[in-house]
Amino acid sequence: MKDLILKELRQAEGYISGERLSELCGVSRTAIWKHIKTLQQEGYQIESQHGAGYRLVGMADVLNARELADHLQGSCFAPSAKIHCYQEVTSTNTVAKELAQKAADRQAKQGIVVTAENQTAGKGRLGRPWTSAQGTGICCSVVLAPMMTLAEASRFSFIAATAIAEGVRRYTGLDVQIKWPNDLVLNGRKICGILVEMVAEAEHVDYFVLGFGLNVNQTSADFPQEIAQKATSLAIQSGVKIDRMALLCQILLSIEEHLALYQSQGFAPIRQKWLASACFLGEKVVIRQQERIIDEGTVQGIDEDGALLLERPDGQTVRILAGDVSLRQADGRYC
Ligand code: BTN
Repeated sequence: MKDLILKELRQAEGYISGERLSELCGVSRTAIWKHIKTLQQEGYQIESQHGAGYRLVGMADVLNARELADHLQGSCFAPSAKIHCYQEVTSTNTVAKELAQKAADRQAKQGIVVTAENQTAGKGRLGRPWTSAQGTGICCSVVLAPMMTLAEASRFSFIAATAIAEGVRRYTGLDVQIKWPNDLVLNGRKICGILVEMVAEAEHVDYFVLGFGLNVNQTSADFPQEIAQKATSLAIQSGVKIDRMALLCQILLSIEEHLALYQSQGFAPIRQKWLASACFLGEKVVIRQQERIIDEGTVQGIDEDGALLLERPDGQTVRILAGDVSLRQADGRYC
């Protein structure tokens, strides 16, 4: 109902009366008044004037399903019933998975979007927790159901990272890079974490839940001390506040576009794009798993499955399938 009232307020030129809103929305004037109060509490600037009605003078910086759907016309995310914007959830990935389980078929699953202003149990890669300051970033999960065999599934997170990086680059013009396997970094600091979860049948992928946490309008003070040196936000790097709604639309469209590219031309063009955005190519790194160093060498690239190709000091090239990459600094330490 709130979304419908908001739509009418946006379409109205100037004031719209409570009576007209109640006719258009099919609820009482008292109900309209209550929803307007809630919208104001959420940050929408709505003026009310006796005898004239209500007028929207400023949008809230809140992700909103109807507006996202309006901006995503023609894409697989467009039906607003597929977009769910919450104030708070445990984890958008968990909620997206629940929605996908209830969806009737592949087509109904494809394009489900869940966003939250706050997560109480955000999940990171390798079982780590994920926290982000309320309402400043983008916490989003998308259900995607491409036709893929289990053997191809490892490529999905590279398609996702390439697409999200390109979406952010298109909107901000900032030189976003990808750190294997799929962290996005800007000037050496992390701006986005990606968590891909998969539900599969015997040989085929049923669907993926692609979750990403993007640092958008955080200030330095918003980051906990333990990650303050490693993380940054788009606003810190660009010096301007970013429209999260417009940025998210650009990212979602880029995801759809890159999946279509994969389906029409295979992994080769994705791999090329991933390599063009990759940091650490030709650099000396260590590979950590659970903070333990398990390998070291020079980064050569990625192969057809997305495995990291690492040339060890003895000249042997090995494939790394899981872990975190850290760069060797001039003083011999790793960061
Ligand atoms: C990582 O870098 O470890 C991955 C972090 C992924 C975080 C996002 S936020 C939206 C989605 N919901 C979650 O619980 N996790 C992902």
